[in-house]
Amino acid sequence: MKILKKVKLVNHPTIEHQLAIMRDKQTNSTLFRSCLKCLSYFIAYEASKHLETRNVSVETPLQKTIAKKNRDKVILIPILRAGLGMEEAFKEMLPFARIGHIGLFRQPRTKQPVKYYEKYPLTTKGGVVFLLDPMLASGHSAALALNLIKKQKPKSIKFCCIVSCPEGIEYVQKHHPDVEIYTAAIDKCLNKDCYIVPGLGDAGDRIFGTK
Ligand code: URA
Repeated sequence: MKILKKVKLVNHPTIEHQLAIMRDKQTNSTLFRSCLKCLSYFIAYEASKHLETRNVSVETPLQKTIAKKNRDKVILIPILRAGLGMEEAFKEMLPFARIGHIGLFRQPRTKQPVKYYEKYPLTTKGGVVFLLDPMLASGHSAALALNLIKKQKPKSIKFCCIVSCPEGIEYVQKHHPDVEIYTAAIDKCLNKDCYIVPGLGDAGDRIFGTK
């Protein structure tokens, strides 16, 4: 498999530790959500490294100084519903961000994603978009979400996930070679039901305790 240069595998011992907890089928929803939030801070840190800054004048308790603040228009777009599990950490790391949402469901027979909701902040035009979904599986949902977002004419889009697999990375890179992918793990493969193996199961169900 060709993994092109736009994939950033974010690694750190803490990431490995939290991911091990998330993969464990015995982990309950509360702990699963807290590990997902922790991993999302790491991904947000890496994915936002290249945001542009502007100089500002501030007065500390001691003297005036020049400091830097964010200059880019930043938009977070979680894909409903599992992407919501990453939203809080990204909001804390990037408090100036506006938030959009894309709702997709997987058609059970064809396994293809279908859009049921989309809403974007006006700043999406010309902005830096962070598209959030913990799992990059077949890549079809990500590619559809990227198609929808591109109609809003953002400056750039970064796809942020936690677990990915070669099939999904290849699909997204084929259809959206301009999009950077940030992931905490690249797993072995996709199974016939489009689950990542070894993966962590259905992220939405595990976040919300729906199974
Ligand atoms: N979505 C999930 O939640 N898990 C997978 O393994 C694949 C898609």
